[in-house]
Amino acid sequence: MDAPPLLTRAVDTAMDRSVVLGYTSIGSGVRRRFWPADPEPGSLAGKRVLVTGATSGIGEAMARSFLDLGATVHLLGRNPDKVSDYARELRLEVPNADIVEEVCDISDLDAVRDFATDLAGRVEALHGLVHNAGLMPPERTESAQGHEMSLAAHVLGPHLMTHLLRERLVAGPGSVVWMSSGGMYGSGLATRDDDEIEYRRGEYKGVQAYARTKRMQVVLADAWATELAGTGVLVESMHPGWVRTPGVSESLPTFDKVVSRLLREPEDGADTAVWLVATRPASGGEHFWHDRAQRPTTFGWQREQDPDLRARLLEYVATVTATPRLG
Ligand SMILES: NC(=O)c1ccc[n+]([C@@H]2O[C@H](COP(=O)([O-])OP(=O)(O)OC[C@H]3O[C@@H](n4cnc5c(N)ncnc54)[C@H](OP(=O)(O)O)[C@@H]3O)[C@@H](O)[C@H]2O)c1
Repeated sequence: MDAPPLLTRAVDTAMDRSVVLGYTSIGSGVRRRFWPADPEPGSLAGKRVLVTGATSGIGEAMARSFLDLGATVHLLGRNPDKVSDYARELRLEVPNADIVEEVCDISDLDAVRDFATDLAGRVEALHGLVHNAGLMPPERTESAQGHEMSLAAHVLGPHLMTHLLRERLVAGPGSVVWMSSGGMYGSGLATRDDDEIEYRRGEYKGVQAYARTKRMQVVLADAWATELAGTGVLVESMHPGWVRTPGVSESLPTFDKVVSRLLREPEDGADTAVWLVATRPASGGEHFWHDRAQRPTTFGWQREQDPDLRARLLEYVATVTATPRLG
């Protein structure tokens, strides 16, 4: 039997604030007893969803879940062999799987422009776009256009792609989901000037650059939600908890070892993105989700997020991607 809503809310919040209980498999294991209903079987039949970073971990699991719900899935990766290998595997596993293989390096703005323009010419409507591709560079590297790599892959590329696919998303109408991270709670925006945004000053720390750009994703999702309000397009951000993936074992081997037994499986990390696209729940505030519930975007000292830093980020993103500035 379901527990009373007040109690479930209290349990849910307590797990969230404890971090370990909420982010691990304990969190998804407990919450699935009382979280909102699963999408109806076949609820995405006739719908089209694009998943970036679909060749590993959470993205792989997400693509599979979208297929299981009947969607046509555009499987996007940067490595053509990985894309075709995984597409082949899925076609064997899922009867009548409708998969479109897509190759694009999301950190390369020219490649994103070419890809999105081409896709917009091939499809009439897009019902889901999940900005899932992610990485944690150990040292400062730059994208094809000279932007710091995590900024380019997490922020600039996805922003440009959203802009270029805007009309197709409105035609859906679609849902856009930015796969952020709980790690973003540990970072402010740090966008005082261009050098700070691009991590050109001081010692480069990959974990910090990752967390900062994951914070930027939450701000961007919120700005896009405002921009597209009234069009039918829903824009959300989320974090998946701590998930057993190649990304975690390669980038955070010690963390991976310490919490190994508690890590979630990739399907659990993908769950909220699939649920958001398939059920399109109404959201308010800053549109940030975890385990099928909206979550705060700031705690304690971060509560007063500086509006000037937010404005500077939006200005910078607009300038370097040559797109209109979001409000
Ligand atoms: N796992 C966790 O505990 C966790 C926690 C918080 C947030 N997240 C977020 O969840 C998302 C998926 O993470 P994961 O753990 O599944 O990582 P993963 O196993 O490393 O998978 C990342 C995916 O992104 C792709 N990718 C990376 N850079 C790309 C680029 N420039 N262009 C196109 N694709 C690119 C990778 O392609 P290749 O296969 O070619 O490398 C791979 O398919 C990321 O955004 C991550 O930040 C994960």
